[in-house]
Amino acid sequence: MAAVRARFPALAGDVAYLDGPGGSQVPEQVLHAIDHCLRESNANLGGGFATSAAAAEVMERGRVAAADFTGGDPEGIAFGANMTTLNFLLAHAVARTLEPGDEIVVTQLDHDANVSPWLLVAADHRLVVRHAPIRAADVTLDHDALEELIGERTRVIAFTLASNAVGSITDPARIAAAAHRVGALAWADAVHLAPHRRLRAREWGLDVLLCSPYKFFGPHLGVAAIRPDLAESLPADRVRPAKQTPPGHRFETGTQSHEAVAGTVAAVDYLRSLGDGSLDFAFERIQAHEDQLARRFLAGLPEAVELYGVRGVDGRTPTFCFNLPGRSPRSVAERLGEGGLYVWDGDYYALEPMHALALSDSGGAVRAGFLHYTTEDEVDRLLDALTAR
Ligand SMILES: Cc1ncc(COP(=O)(O)O)c(C=O)c1O
Repeated sequence: MAAVRARFPALAGDVAYLDGPGGSQVPEQVLHAIDHCLRESNANLGGGFATSAAAAEVMERGRVAAADFTGGDPEGIAFGANMTTLNFLLAHAVARTLEPGDEIVVTQLDHDANVSPWLLVAADHRLVVRHAPIRAADVTLDHDALEELIGERTRVIAFTLASNAVGSITDPARIAAAAHRVGALAWADAVHLAPHRRLRAREWGLDVLLCSPYKFFGPHLGVAAIRPDLAESLPADRVRPAKQTPPGHRFETGTQSHEAVAGTVAAVDYLRSLGDGSLDFAFERIQAHEDQLARRFLAGLPEAVELYGVRGVDGRTPTFCFNLPGRSPRSVAERLGEGGLYVWDGDYYALEPMHALALSDSGGAVRAGFLHYTTEDEVDRLLDALTAR
């Protein structure tokens, strides 16, 4: 643990960064890669000189690293400003291929970045949106109810791999299989799951998977892993001189942040190093440590704290959403922040889960998220602070 933490400049102080679901810290090698990119390959693409060729190489390495990380295909990788922007763009592209009356399924577990794009294109193209419910008792997706919403007119099932509010994990292979039975697209938001589990876009049968490197120890950027033949066939908004191949490029409008792509390559390299070169092994280790932290947190949580979501460690990430009786989430977060425990409060754009928990009008809830660099001591500090209140 000491060796891992020593690689993150931000972790040198006494602050416990429990705001990971909002954004993670970055290791030194990510900072170095961004710096190096801007020093050594700072040119636009397509020029006949060395720095332009170096920039092209950065982008190529980025596609390979992003495909490896998502379990997708380098040909289908598209970079963008962030997940939300990419999702608006891609939802717009898909909607242009649909007919009025076609149906989209979204879920109540999702961050709004995988709900609003569908609501907006549905209004523009007269599509029908169906909402798959959660079970309020443990804030998990009701997969049976979702399957009942699927019909012959379903064209897209947009769902999250894990809730950024309460950490519950869904079953992507089951949802993708149900989507494909009716010829619909399986469209997954992997933003919250990405730092916690190995992603397997192709193996799970996902047509589109979206994630954000700034949640997995990289810089601010969005990544879409699109099935290459789908990326090829969807209509894309392009300026006339822009080349159309390979397929994922078609959704990259204008010049990308090459330095953020370089930083993302370094973030994936960093993760690989945790598994002696293998991402599979890295995520086994990450999960073992995070489960241990989650067990410790759940075992020590004072009874007065009202926890929302799954009460065990299975089927969840170590992201905990809770309230203290008689205290507003903001006042709790501020108090914890004064003690060097940085947690989030509010709705974290998870509008639907907050609504289902009837927390939308009362400031939402406090959210503490652990990552692989979180220590048992930090969990204990949080528990002590919640006990002292
Ligand atoms: C689950 C989930 N989906 C989507 C997003 C939006 O990601 P971005 O900030 O890259 O647009 C977030 C951001 O917090 C998130 O947690």
